[in-house]
Amino acid sequence: MSTTERTFIAIKPDGVQRGLVSKIIERFEVRGYKLVAIKMVQPTQEHLETHYQDLKTKPFFAGLIQYMKSGPIVAMVWEGLDAVRQGRAMLGATNPLQSAPGSIRGDFCIQTGRNICHGSDSVESANHEISLWFKEDELCSYKHNSQNLIY
Ligand code: TYD
Repeated sequence: MSTTERTFIAIKPDGVQRGLVSKIIERFEVRGYKLVAIKMVQPTQEHLETHYQDLKTKPFFAGLIQYMKSGPIVAMVWEGLDAVRQGRAMLGATNPLQSAPGSIRGDFCIQTGRNICHGSDSVESANHEISLWFKEDELCSYKHNSQNLIY
């Protein structure tokens, strides 16, 4: 049984600068996920080092932080059934050359070091990342109001 979850999705600096913000948001909207929080942020070195702390011994860590600092990102929280696992599948593999066509990375990029988007890899890391990037009052819980839906 899938449960309703929240996941942290970010559009990285190259995704923003290449004009892919609306396309990436659209994938989540049309799939049926609910946007709970969104903001544009110029991340600091310190914030990125915390976000990627599990990778700090990796040889690509310094380059990753430089890339992630190279411009503003769009930070988001999406909510819905199985949101963490489905979000990862919708983004595609870390290496875009191994991402299936139809996934966001598989359709819009070709380099691991410029892979345009981030998605939480577990419910536990989603909760951690959401609290790292958003304050509690920036998360909006809401129900769909039938008077706002024109069918
Ligand atoms: P990782 O958490 O392993 O992947 P994902 O973003 O799919 O959860 O790595 C974080 C980011 O680090 C990844 O999106 C791109 C970058 N990276 C590299 O630049 N080189 C690499 O070899 C790897 C594995 C990741």
